[in-house]
Amino acid sequence: MMKKECLNIVESKCRSCKGCALAKTRNNVVFSDGNPETASIVLIGEAPGEMEDLSGTPFVGRAGQLLDEFLVEAGISRQDDLYIINTVKCRPPENRVPFDEEKSACEKFLHAQIDIMNPKAILFCGATALKSFWADPKVQISKIRGNWFNVAINNKEYRAMAIFHPSYLLRNHSMEEGSPRRLMQQDLAEIKRTVLVDNVPFESREFAMV
Ligand code: URA
Repeated sequence: MMKKECLNIVESKCRSCKGCALAKTRNNVVFSDGNPETASIVLIGEAPGEMEDLSGTPFVGRAGQLLDEFLVEAGISRQDDLYIINTVKCRPPENRVPFDEEKSACEKFLHAQIDIMNPKAILFCGATALKSFWADPKVQISKIRGNWFNVAINNKEYRAMAIFHPSYLLRNHSMEEGSPRRLMQQDLAEIKRTVLVDNVPFESREFAMV
């Protein structure tokens, strides 16, 4: 079966999910964006915001538009190189951070998406995505971003990197050396080089393990 067909099965289950209270307030389940047959990188965000809930597509609001600008600049194609998903598939009211029970209810869908995609790299975009996989709840993106690490999901290891969430970059405009926006540019350049240009083979236990 093609990845798309496998993902369609997961998507139809996800669309009828009533596993947490967000099912009552959502307009749309926001499952994914990007072409699963060509994408070699999975980018995981937090949860849909208003625009995503209305459109059914992740990262289309202000944060998503800023992410698009950074991707274009880095030469990473949103449609062909990335498969974009969220930790939680339904919008939390007022865009609050998802509760643990909401993340737990969505975990099977998130894990199935990663399993089926079997990506060359996973990008944890923002703290919510990272903390769903990182043991230390106090972990900070600013401390670990820019470094590849290994993550084990469903007994399989992947190369991974944490990157700033574009909502954070919307609040930080500086382009000074060392500013979050400049670091985001550097991180996306590193991701492009390693995964898409040089296609550096991933070796198990190559990096510190999470
Ligand atoms: N923020 C996210 O984390 N995901 C979206 O889809 C939109 C905003």
